[in-house]
Amino acid sequence: MEKRDLPTPCYLIDEAALRRNGEILKGLQQRTGCRVLLAQKCFSCFGFYPLLSEYLAGTEASGLYEARLGAEEMPGKEVHVFEAAYRPDEFEEITRYAGHILFNSIGQLARFGPAAKAAGCQVGLRLNPECSTQEGHAIYDPCAPGSRLGVRRAEWDAAMTPELLGLLDGLHFHTLCEQDSDALEMTLQAAEEKFGEFFGQMKWLNLGGGHHITRPGYDLPRLERCIRHLTDRYGLLVYLEPGEAVALNGGSLLTRVLDVLPRLTGKEPVRLILDASAACHMPDVLEMPYRPPLAGSGQPGEKAVTCRLGGPTCLAGDVIGEYSFDSCPQIGDLLEFEDMAIYTMVKTNTFNGMPLPAIAVRKENGDCQVVRTFGYEDFKSRLG
Ligand SMILES: Cc1ncc(COP(=O)(O)O)c(C=O)c1O
Repeated sequence: MEKRDLPTPCYLIDEAALRRNGEILKGLQQRTGCRVLLAQKCFSCFGFYPLLSEYLAGTEASGLYEARLGAEEMPGKEVHVFEAAYRPDEFEEITRYAGHILFNSIGQLARFGPAAKAAGCQVGLRLNPECSTQEGHAIYDPCAPGSRLGVRRAEWDAAMTPELLGLLDGLHFHTLCEQDSDALEMTLQAAEEKFGEFFGQMKWLNLGGGHHITRPGYDLPRLERCIRHLTDRYGLLVYLEPGEAVALNGGSLLTRVLDVLPRLTGKEPVRLILDASAACHMPDVLEMPYRPPLAGSGQPGEKAVTCRLGGPTCLAGDVIGEYSFDSCPQIGDLLEFEDMAIYTMVKTNTFNGMPLPAIAVRKENGDCQVVRTFGYEDFKSRLG
């Protein structure tokens, strides 16, 4: 069917875009010998896992259910799990899905590492290289003061023992968010200064996610130099576990205008109520915050009519942003927010009794098909 015939709100995943990203990530692996995993926290639409598995070495999971999903839906591929802390009642099941288990503290390594090893898993420890390279988004900076993520060198010195070190097959750090490889290079330097003496004893180093590898203009040669340095100097197998880079620009959110509110002066923006909500369907717009791209629109004031686009919930701040148009959108018009495959479907909620958006696919031949719709039972089933 055509895009205009899809129900709204609806996430529309673009197969060709996923393939374009996949090709870039496959090329990187072929040239450097690194392995790239899908961070499922960002994109877990398992219907696309068969396509993605042509390009990726496996999945990364942040919890039991993601671990199971990766094992079930990308069979034969690697499953790596990192949790800030494991639950004793889940750990045995996790070891059945995971090939690699990563710990966030030396205490957790001591508590669960021997069981992970006995179950045949490789064991890793997350480091905190204490090197912030991000500006503006403190909640996405695992190196921010007081962070609970990763082991700092002073903690390592206080608690690491030869027995625990002997359990480790690899090390991990994740410190980036939507960044280029210059930030990785800086972080790697800090990590090497603090922990480099142990790199030679490890089989692998996982450089986490936050690498915007598939963004136009990303400095791929610098990333490849970082990887080759680790391979050549320490003999390490390098893992990357990006989420965004896998599904970047990989889909949109289709929405229709439900109402156009009157304005009192020509100066104020026209207020539009859409059937998609920032709070329910694009929560990072409020959390991060950011202004998602909208097809065919301009910056406020750039085109003839500036509109403030908001959702249908009772939350006063359920506002997606201000956009300008050649002419004012009308009730029933279809709008398309771009780059909506990442950190959206994995984070939706039904606040205010809002329906969850449908999920659809644009096949490579351009045909659009609905993959899944949601209804009242999806709302009710989580509430009692
Ligand atoms: C440990 C870890 N790995 C990978 C990722 C994926 O990051 P991104 O989607 O920014 O590439 C995250 C994101 O928070 C993370 O915490």
